[in-house]
Amino acid sequence: MARGIHTEDRYLGCLLGLAAGDALGAPYEGGILERAVWAAIGKTRLGERRWTDDTQMTLDLAESILERGGLDLDALGVRFASSYRWSRGYGPGTVKVLKRIRRGQSWESATRAVYPDGSYGNGAAMRSTVLALFYPEDAEQLDHAARSAAEVTHGHPVGVDGAALLAHVARGLLHGDDLGTVLEEANARVRTDELAGPFGIASERLLEGAALTPAEVARALGNGMTVPTSCPTAVYIGLNYRERSFDELLRFATECGGDTDTIAAMAGSLWGVANGRPDIGEERIEGWDEIAGLARRIYGFSAPAANQTNNIE
Ligand code: AR6
Ligand code: MG
Repeated sequence: MARGIHTEDRYLGCLLGLAAGDALGAPYEGGILERAVWAAIGKTRLGERRWTDDTQMTLDLAESILERGGLDLDALGVRFASSYRWSRGYGPGTVKVLKRIRRGQSWESATRAVYPDGSYGNGAAMRSTVLALFYPEDAEQLDHAARSAAEVTHGHPVGVDGAALLAHVARGLLHGDDLGTVLEEANARVRTDELAGPFGIASERLLEGAALTPAEVARALGNGMTVPTSCPTAVYIGLNYRERSFDELLRFATECGGDTDTIAAMAGSLWGVANGRPDIGEERIEGWDEIAGLARRIYGFSAPAANQTNNIE
């Protein structure tokens, strides 16, 4: 475990690692068509790399909690919907949910109108590492927050479970826990067999120190856009690379293929919680300083709680 990292740097790393994984992973997502679209719209006028829905929804979640002084699901739904832009590459079900909320429908009925059991896409998991920054102390409170915030767009038990998993892994890293403890506490929180199976495999491989190739990871754990096919993969990569460079993590994540931006976003965020802000070399990423500013505001918001147990030397 990296030592001597100030808690505020872990907050910065959580958000900047996510944005960097998202923006730098996005050009590798999907097939020829998706890549061609991203080549056309993947940079701002200033030449900075744009991020996708993963970062947008994470920023929305954080801003909403800061503005309301806590989780307010109605306000969160409205914020998600008003931030929606087609060019951010939202998941197909989530697009429909957000458009319904925009038209005035409640989030409760909008999410169930698209999938009656709710979505088990990774769209709630991808935005939930930030919740560990808000609820660093009480694992029960974090669990409740992660599951509630997921419900707004991803009400399926598996979609919700993925969000809880990412939040708990981030919390373990925030506290500087060792690998075994992080995995044990996260495993104890998983409620669905669909996620427990692949996360169990990822945990075993991590504890064995197995050096899997990207192709082996994609085959054994998946590279899709659902929770069971992406969350164990992202946790595997984030934890396996936590003592290596961000660059190496990014290369591995993109070589796994599939939903590269979201897998790199989740893995990058976990890396950032462990190590602080990533070094992105010559790259420039949209909104970088604003995202750092938001991370500092979250730190200010939850610092009294965070500081009680984060005296990591
Ligand atoms: N029944 C059948 N298929 C489902 C169900 C269900 N209940 N839930 C999910 N799927 P979605 P997301 C499948 O659309 O999770 C973006 O790039 C279905 O094929 O809710 O918000 C994001 O960045 C559905 O289209 O989207 C993420 O990387 C898919 O899972 C990614 O897309 C995704 O669920 C997913 O975003
Ligand atoms: Mg994505």
